[in-house]
Amino acid sequence: MENKIILITGASDGIGKQVALELSVLGAHIIMHGRNKNKTELAADKIREATGGKIDTIIADLSSLGQIREMSKSLHEKYDRLDVLINNAGVQMHTLELSEDGFEISFAINHLAYFLLTSLLIDMIDKSDYRRIVITSSGIHSESIDFDNLQAEKGFNMYSVYTQTKLCNLFFAYHLAELLKNNNISVNSLHPGLVDTNLNPQRTAEIVARALPVTKGSVATMHLTTSPDLENVTGKYFNYDAKEAKSKPISYDKQIQQKLWSLSEEMIGEKFKLI
Ligand SMILES: NC(=O)c1ccc[n+]([C@@H]2O[C@H](COP(=O)([O-])OP(=O)(O)OC[C@H]3O[C@@H](n4cnc5c(N)ncnc54)[C@H](OP(=O)(O)O)[C@@H]3O)[C@@H](O)[C@H]2O)c1
Repeated sequence: MENKIILITGASDGIGKQVALELSVLGAHIIMHGRNKNKTELAADKIREATGGKIDTIIADLSSLGQIREMSKSLHEKYDRLDVLINNAGVQMHTLELSEDGFEISFAINHLAYFLLTSLLIDMIDKSDYRRIVITSSGIHSESIDFDNLQAEKGFNMYSVYTQTKLCNLFFAYHLAELLKNNNISVNSLHPGLVDTNLNPQRTAEIVARALPVTKGSVATMHLTTSPDLENVTGKYFNYDAKEAKSKPISYDKQIQQKLWSLSEEMIGEKFKLI
């Protein structure tokens, strides 16, 4: 991974931070994204100290479409290509909150941000000869989608709101892989496992006891980012043990993938920028 330029969203904590460390050990040039400048810089300093690697940081609140656009602008100014984009940032909300653009906040961060950021950065990935997009979903992605409740219009339920956004990750990943299959850019998605992070501070002690340490929660992301075996693999879903797996049947429904895609374009107010 020597000198590969890799952007990891949500790298200030949890799985993203661990992946940044492991990729830095392998010699990659990491761009650690976070929303909190001090926290992200501190995480980057620690990794630099540990590995002596090339680590940059970039700050943006991914619930804001405007900040995602600013982030893309800065990345275009600073780098001539991106070898890997790891869409990893995520939240589990406990109450209904709306983003500045008026979207339910976990839908905005977990789905719309992946959609817009990938669209804006795809030209930079196209300039690489490595060309990978990694999408962090979850094994608890929902088995259904309610298009009339994407913004929790019918009431907020933490579990169903979160699991629906994680299903959206798969609709997005599979459809994007299909659209990019002739461009030689791979798009694969993953479930990192139940991992001991700050994603849900209200987790019960029983759940925490079952959770993997982040050093194990990084396995699938690392596999999708670095494995030479995946050079020609796209549109697949991988489990936390880095084995290819099947996601829930609905995630493969092409009509729903297309419907969410069109709706997402309406929400971000622009067409997805395919190369
Ligand atoms: N942990 C699990 O058991 C598990 C299971 C399945 C899937 N996942 C997925 O794995 C991914 C990483 O989660 P994690 O467990 O590592 O959680 P985490 O420790 O809470 O890390 C989440 C990262 O996303 C960032 N983030 C949150 N809101 C943001 C926003 N508005 N703008 C920009 N960045 C934001 C966080 O920044 P701060 O540091 O500022 O909070 C942090 O860097 C998520 O997509 C999650 O859905 C996790």
